[in-house]
Amino acid sequence: MLFLYMFFTASGLNAATNRGSMDLRAIKTAIIAFVVVVPISVLLGKEHTKRKVPSEYLAKKNPFSGSDKSVLERGERLFSTICARCHGKNGDGVGSRLEGYTMPIFNKEFLSKREDGYIYWVVEHGLSGTPMPPYGPGSDRNLSEADVWKVIAFVRKRFGK
Ligand code: HEC
Repeated sequence: MLFLYMFFTASGLNAATNRGSMDLRAIKTAIIAFVVVVPISVLLGKEHTKRKVPSEYLAKKNPFSGSDKSVLERGERLFSTICARCHGKNGDGVGSRLEGYTMPIFNKEFLSKREDGYIYWVVEHGLSGTPMPPYGPGSDRNLSEADVWKVIAFVRKRFGK
């Protein structure tokens, strides 16, 4: 989107300077590009679209109960030591070290649209092309499957209400 905007603006300005005079059409193009393209890209930037996740992941269910105290304690520990620095301790991106990056807000609405197996896949694989790293078995952090499920149980319990 940003690229499209830069392209429009650059071609508009080039046309204006090439002719050595203020070309109204070129200026109009630049203005339209700004007024139309920028808000669209801002809107798209805020939308955290779901990724395509293999169906065998979507079918997975959390083997741990969200009412098991030891599960939630472990999940909370993992969340606060690993995830909170980017997602914020309240899951809303506030206080994130990723200042300026529009973080998803973990709340009831957001989490209700994401299956356990979907979140599992995201945490295990990370989101390539974004700062979200992979944490599953074999990654640098090498969390066990059980730990990934426990952090998901905690996120749902704490932010999904
Ligand atoms: C280094 C920063 C960073 C850390 C640490 C981090 N995340 Fe993320 N996470 C991100 C970013 C950035 C996004 C949004 C990517 C996008 O959609 O542009 C994200 C997105 C997500 C999403 C939403 C994915 C979607 O498609 O809707 C979930 C769920 C998530 N992270 C869970 C976690 C969990 C759980 C942890 C801890 C184990 C964690 N993240 C740690 C940066 C981080």
